[in-house]
Amino acid sequence: MEILKKMILEHGTVRGNNIVMVDSFLNHKLDISLLNEIGKEFYERFKHKNINKILTIEASGIAIAAITAQYFNVDVVFAKKTISTNLDDNTYESKVYSFTKNETYTVRVAKKFLDKEDKILIIDDFLANGKALEGLIDIIDQANAKIEGIGIVIEKGFQDGGKLIRDRGFNLESLVIIDDIKSNKVVFRN
Ligand code: G4P
Repeated sequence: MEILKKMILEHGTVRGNNIVMVDSFLNHKLDISLLNEIGKEFYERFKHKNINKILTIEASGIAIAAITAQYFNVDVVFAKKTISTNLDDNTYESKVYSFTKNETYTVRVAKKFLDKEDKILIIDDFLANGKALEGLIDIIDQANAKIEGIGIVIEKGFQDGGKLIRDRGFNLESLVIIDDIKSNKVVFRN
C-alpha cells in the first residue's frame, strides 16, 4: 500500500534495530484520513468473505478496527488485556507472551460477544512474533467461531509471526511488510 509506505518513510522513525515508531500517525496520534484508506484497503482485500464481526486487541488495534468496520458495516469486539470491574466474568481467555516486554499477559473476551456462527476478520496494527495474534486465534477457536481472514497494517517480515500464521493456513493480508531495518531505514518487501 503505497500511501502507507510513504507515511512510514516520511513520518516513521526507527528505535534500536527493530522497532518502527509510527506514533505520529498510527498508534498514538491518529491520522484519520490514512486510517480511512487503511479501512478501504482491508475492505478491498476481504470483501469477498462473509464477515460479520471484527476482532482486535487493545489498545492500538481499536481505532484501526473501528474505522475498518464502517466499510464492512459490522461491529468490533476488542480483547482486553486487564481485568476491570466493567468486564463480564464469563470470558474466553488466552495467555500471550510479549517478546518486546518479556512478560506474559492474559487477553480476555466476554463469551457473550462471540458466537459460534461468527465469521471473523482479525485486525491489528503490528505483526512481529505473532503471539498476540495467536491469543486472538485461540479465543476464536474456544468460541468455535470461524476466522475468515487476518488483516495487519505493518508486518515485520524479519520476525517469525507472519510465517507462523501463514504456515497454519490462515488468510493473512499485511498492508506493508518490512523486511529489514538498515542504517535506521526501513526496507519494504516489494
Ligand atoms: P507479537 O504480539 O507479534 O508477538 O509482538 P510483541 O509481543 O513483540 O509486541 C508487543 C507489542 O509491541 C504490541 O503492542 C505490538 O503491536 C508492538 N510492536 C511490536 N513491534 C513493534 C514495532 O516495531 N513498532 C511499534 N510501534 N510497536 C510494535 P502492544 O503492547 O499490544 O501495545 P498497544 O497495542 O497497546 O499499543
